[in-house]
Amino acid sequence: MKIISSLSEFLVWRASISSSLKVGFVPTMGALHNGHAALIKGSLNEADITVVSIFVNPKQFGENEDFSSYPRTVEKDCDLLQSAGVDILFLPQYEDIYSDDVKSFAFEHFFSRQLEGKSRPNFFPGVVNVVSRLFNIVKPSMSFFGKKDAQQLILINKMVNVGGFPIKIIPVETIREPSGLAMSSRNIYLSKSQTISASKIYKSLLLAESLLKHGEKDARVIKNEIKKNLLVDPAISVDYISIVCLNDLKEVSGEVCSPVLVSVAVYIGGVRLIDNIFYE
Ligand code: PAJ
Repeated sequence: MKIISSLSEFLVWRASISSSLKVGFVPTMGALHNGHAALIKGSLNEADITVVSIFVNPKQFGENEDFSSYPRTVEKDCDLLQSAGVDILFLPQYEDIYSDDVKSFAFEHFFSRQLEGKSRPNFFPGVVNVVSRLFNIVKPSMSFFGKKDAQQLILINKMVNVGGFPIKIIPVETIREPSGLAMSSRNIYLSKSQTISASKIYKSLLLAESLLKHGEKDARVIKNEIKKNLLVDPAISVDYISIVCLNDLKEVSGEVCSPVLVSVAVYIGGVRLIDNIFYE
């Protein structure tokens, strides 16, 4: 695996790659786990060359969020990537991404102000900016995103369509711990007992799925059941519970449509965790 930690070196490498080769790209913020590994596996299977980037993007964090404490485990990450068979690890510097010469890519969509966007107003403008910049540098044929961050996946797809990026966005299923807890770089903030509490997030989503399967159509009833299920645990406080119709990305308050995205964001201690299920 070649490690490239400057834009100029990356551009030289990129120019040396034949245009007939398919470059697969997995953008990450590091602290890699099996969820990231699934995206990388997807790229290794589909593409001729796999590029992984690690960049903890300051602009997608709010003032009171965990940018400074976000886990940084580059050495361990390198080992994982090397043994997975990744071709290029790109570690851009702040100036490589945010230089005065680079125009930021603006992409507005009402859905970016819902769910995560409502609770974290910096998040999607920051994500869109960094991902578009990375796409312009890496110039991949395809890029892999996890369903764990469903809203991010949906918005990146829209950004690619609106911005005319010739890149196929490939969604990857959420990888979970045996308890059902979705793998996340932030899980390492959790104590043992908080990890047990966190496993209730997915259980509440499974309950919603079972209600939907049994014909429950009222979104309010489903959201209420999720809430009741989560709040029996005093360690959990709910940020939002959302059911969005995937056809128009609007929040459902009455009868559910199909397909839907059921999403949950909670706080456990100071740790914010999200998870979701798609249901058709
Ligand atoms: P990060 O949280 O490091 O996630 C990188 C990619 O891994 C995202 O596409 C995310 O959805 C995926 N991922 C994380 N946990 C997963 C899991 N348990 N199962 C499957 N996929 C999972 O998302 C970001 O970084 C950033 O916002 C980024 C896109 C890199 C822009 O800065």
